[in-house]
Amino acid sequence: MDLKIAVLPGDGIGPEISKQGVDVMTAVCEKFGHTVSYKYAICGADAIDKVGDPFPQETFEICRDADAVLFSAVGDPKFDNDPTAKVRPEQGLLAMRKQLGLFANIRPVETFKCLIHKSPLRAELVEGADFICIRELTGGMYFGEKYQDDDKAYDTNAYTRPEIERILKVAFEYAMKRRRHLTVVDKANVLASSRLWRKIAQEMAPKYPEVETDFMYVDNAAMRMIQDPRFFDVMVTENTFGDILTDEGSVISGSMGLLPSASTGESTPVFEPIHGSWPQAKGLNIANPLAQILSVAMLFEYFDLKEEGKLVREAVNASLDANVRTPEIQVEGGAKYGTKEVGEWIVNYINNK
Ligand code: IPM
Ligand code: MN
Repeated sequence: MDLKIAVLPGDGIGPEISKQGVDVMTAVCEKFGHTVSYKYAICGADAIDKVGDPFPQETFEICRDADAVLFSAVGDPKFDNDPTAKVRPEQGLLAMRKQLGLFANIRPVETFKCLIHKSPLRAELVEGADFICIRELTGGMYFGEKYQDDDKAYDTNAYTRPEIERILKVAFEYAMKRRRHLTVVDKANVLASSRLWRKIAQEMAPKYPEVETDFMYVDNAAMRMIQDPRFFDVMVTENTFGDILTDEGSVISGSMGLLPSASTGESTPVFEPIHGSWPQAKGLNIANPLAQILSVAMLFEYFDLKEEGKLVREAVNASLDANVRTPEIQVEGGAKYGTKEVGEWIVNYINNK
């Protein structure tokens, strides 16, 4: 296969983890005889500083013309505490989602045996938890009509039937490929938008008779996720609920630094770690590259390159088993490896396979 990849390192620890992802991708492609080429593009605070726009047109075109985007992270504290800032790095992320039509955000929550003790939940609750959250990514309050003056402000949680149908279709199909259990998360007891989601899900469910579909209010789902995370297989929800629930889900595994994600839709798919740009760690070679590396596994799997994805996952697990770990997940007394050293160990493992 011939793969054209757009690489968007972004801000903070982004460039450091991006390099490890790219090196792993190159090693796997060499091993399996694929050709891969990379085009780098700027985004986030980096792009604001350089051209005044967090998702410049040129970056959009590089993404649009690629087969996949390998994204790292955006965000810089200098914008966070400045309410007068006209442009923010996060707008670049939202622009990318909208312009590439990335309506489906797939966020898996997996546990790693050797890290269970790092989970805020008791081991017996979290062991074996394995679910994915499918978050609608281009609708709802994030993009609905907004208004703000000094005395009044609102955001509109608007959803249309086609927007709901296409994300539910993705969710039902994921459920079919997994344990065939779909939980539709909403707030249908209060919100009209949720009632439409529920109605459409009920209409679609008979088309997937093998899938056990249930409905859960979002407040209840937030509770259930920490009481009994193994209950879930595939969860689907709207943009804002998905934003909140996936942060909750991400810590269950023990480290946010381990979770990748994929965003897919009408144009080029994007693969990225779930964590942010961790500006305080920039340049310190301490950030965990595994979420970025696992997004490379998701990228391969998206193109049905199963063996390639499997090798990446195997190499990641081997690095954990060998205690080649970044400081935040290292066992007591274990040597602390840097971002670069973990990445290099994994590349080496792949080369020697
Ligand atoms: C995420 C992030 C973004 C979101 C922010 C950075 C705009 O929190 O990807 O979950 O709210 O969607
Ligand atoms: Mn979020």
